[in-house]
Parts: sequence; C-alpha cells; structure tokens
Amino acid sequence: MNAPAQGKDTSVGLAARAADFPILARPVHGRRLAYLDNGATTQKPQWVIDAQARYYSESNANIHRGVHWLSQHSTDLYDRGRERVRSFLNAAHAGEIVFTRGTTEAINLVAFSWGRVNLKAGDEILLSGMEHHSNIVPWQMVAQQTGAVIKVIPVTDDGELDMAAFSTLLGDRTRFVGVCHVSNALGTVNPVEEIIRQARAVGAVVLVDGAQAVAHQAVDVQALGCDFYAFSGHKLYGPTGIGALYGRKELLDAMPPWQGGGDMIHTVSFEGSTYAESPQKFEAGTPNIAGVIGLEAAIAYVQEIGLDRIAAHEDELLKYACEALGAIPGMRFIGQAKQRAGIVSFVVQGIHPHDLGTILDMEGVAIRAGHHCAMPLMTRFGLPGTARASFALYNSRADVDALVAGLHKARRLFGMEMERSA
Ligand code: ALA
Repeated sequence: MNAPAQGKDTSVGLAARAADFPILARPVHGRRLAYLDNGATTQKPQWVIDAQARYYSESNANIHRGVHWLSQHSTDLYDRGRERVRSFLNAAHAGEIVFTRGTTEAINLVAFSWGRVNLKAGDEILLSGMEHHSNIVPWQMVAQQTGAVIKVIPVTDDGELDMAAFSTLLGDRTRFVGVCHVSNALGTVNPVEEIIRQARAVGAVVLVDGAQAVAHQAVDVQALGCDFYAFSGHKLYGPTGIGALYGRKELLDAMPPWQGGGDMIHTVSFEGSTYAESPQKFEAGTPNIAGVIGLEAAIAYVQEIGLDRIAAHEDELLKYACEALGAIPGMRFIGQAKQRAGIVSFVVQGIHPHDLGTILDMEGVAIRAGHHCAMPLMTRFGLPGTARASFALYNSRADVDALVAGLHKARRLFGMEMERSA
C-alpha cells in the first residue's frame, strides 16, 4: 500500500455528504467534531429529521384503527415503510418484515417465540464467539427454560471465525445458528453465506445479526438464504427505537406471538383469543409509526447514494486509518480479518482504552472504548476492552488525522512521547 497522502482527501467523494448532517457542524470541547462512533449509532441527515417532523406536523394518527382519513393516510405511510424495508433486504414478501425496537428486540422475538416452542433439552444452539450480548443473552435465557445447550464457534487470532471448527460443531443436534454479519467489536465480515449453507444442510435455523452490516453493504436475504435477519434503524442514519426482523414466511406463520395486546389479534373473548396473521401478530400495541417513517427516509437516503459507493468510501478510509494508526508506537490492532467493514479496534500499550477515549474526546474525537457489549470476545483476546473507531459515509481523512493526532497527544500525556517539533 502506498503512503497516505497527508491532508489530501482522495476518498471517493462522499465526505462532502457531511453537510447533510447538522450535528456534524457543532463543535465539541471547542474542537471540530470527528465522529468515529458510528458502530454505536450513526448521525441523522436533515432528510430523516425532516421526514419525522413532517409526519408529526402533517400525517400523525394511529394506524389500522381509524375510519378517518388521517388514520388511513398514516397507515399507508407505515405500510410504505414496510415495503421499503422489504426492497432494501430483497425479501420476497412485505409480510416477512416485522417492525421491532431494533436488533435486540428482533433477536428476543425469535428467541422467545421460535426458540421456546422449537427447542428442547439436548438441542444445540450454535453461536459465534464474536456475538454481541444481544445475540447471546436471549439464547441463554431460552436455553435455561428449554434445556437446550449453547455451543460456541471459536475465533482465530486474526479475529475470524474458525470455519473448520464450525463444520465440526454442526451436527444432528444443532437446531439454531446465530451469527453476526459484521462484528461490532472487530469489523470482521463473516462468511455468512457459507455458514447458512452448511447450517441449513443439517436442518438448523439461522439468524443473522445485521446491525453492523446494513449501513455498509447491500444485503439480499433471498440470496443469503437465511431464516432470520435483524437490523436497527439508528445504525443506518435512521431514528432510535426502530428496527426490523426479516423472517421466512413459513417460519413466521408457524411461530406464536410473543407479546399480546391490541392490533395483534383477530378476535378476543374472555374464553380465549385468536391472532392476526404475521407480521401483525408480532406487532402488539401502537407501533413506532414515526420511527418507521424515519427509517423509510433513511433507507431512501442510503439507496440514493448507493451502498456500493458507501462501501468503497469506508474501505478506503479503513485502509488509510490502518496505515496511519499502524505507525503509532505501541499500537496493537485487535482483529485483522481479511474481510472487514469500516471498524478498527485497537489498544495502545500502557494506556487504558477508557483513558484514550477521554483524551480523544477532549480533542473533539468521538470513539467507543470498552468491551463493546462483546465480553466473551474480549476475554478471548485477554483484554478488558479496546478502543474502537468506526466509520460512516460522512467521515473523511481529516477525521482519521484528528484521531491519530489525539493518540499522539495521549502518548505525550502519558510520558511516552516528546512534543514533536514543527
Ligand atoms: N452495539 C453498539 C456498539 O457496538 C452499541 O457500539
């Protein structure tokens, strides 16, 4: 790789899109904000903010309930949001899209609806060793209730899944495989197509946690062949509190509801109730209608730019960042998988990640420091946590340069480096 051209931004031209995101213009601690915590949540373009405000100003009413015009209008917008998610994931039917609060709720839905009914004592749940807590804890809860057993696909020193071990772990007892498409802590892009192919060959159901993938690459659930795919709106330039679960129709149709209430029933009497078809069966109560409107706008925004361009831009930034960070003494990258999305996780010898995060914050650089809700993965690497910079379409080389300058400052504060003369 050639040396990065300092100061000259040769990235694929998306950084100008920063102007679409009002928050990026606000200084933090008197410094230009370099927002590199996109794995935690992305910022929102004015387009999304306006879409939600317009919904409340012009279209707000409850859905599926009113005979009046506004309710019908609001229902139409909500349904349009479902159709947008369907096309975004290339699902076959809009009915395969269930709106949830986010990835966590989507996984809990699968665990507590599908898992509780379909798992029994001795069945095996196979999870990757780099899962976020949200794809571990619900399965532990269901395993306790059903007697199913959790097995773990090991992670290599490079931060990849050990695929040979995966094939060995798969067997007649494997009923479920849960894997993240992209690791939130390492940025590893997992070979989910191969995992799905092998898992389905033994009759296992596969859930892919797409929380860190959908903003960085195009996803086609039919091409993947997965049974479930979950993602959150807020990591995709959309609002918090909204996300979606894709589920194959025959699975969703056979699953019981997991929450009861209005809008998920067909009939109710004190003798018993009958339920609506999926996806309504899984959307009890008034949903986050404004969230769906915001999510629809966010997907439209990303589609207008193009996920291929976003992926190329972030890949270029990742390479630039890895080269620049690699030149810092004491730098140790955690996770060097061959396939990575825009995340770089690292530790600097002699400085705790939390101290790095605090010092960087004072320089206007926002990163995440800690275990990234992936404590088993941190344990695997013998670390309490890492520092993590994660990229989005609006980031530029200037953001990486600010990160690198901040890390040199941290080393100076810890007495590891002298002030550099100009
Ligand atoms: N899961 C989010 C992250 O990785 C919060 O930071």
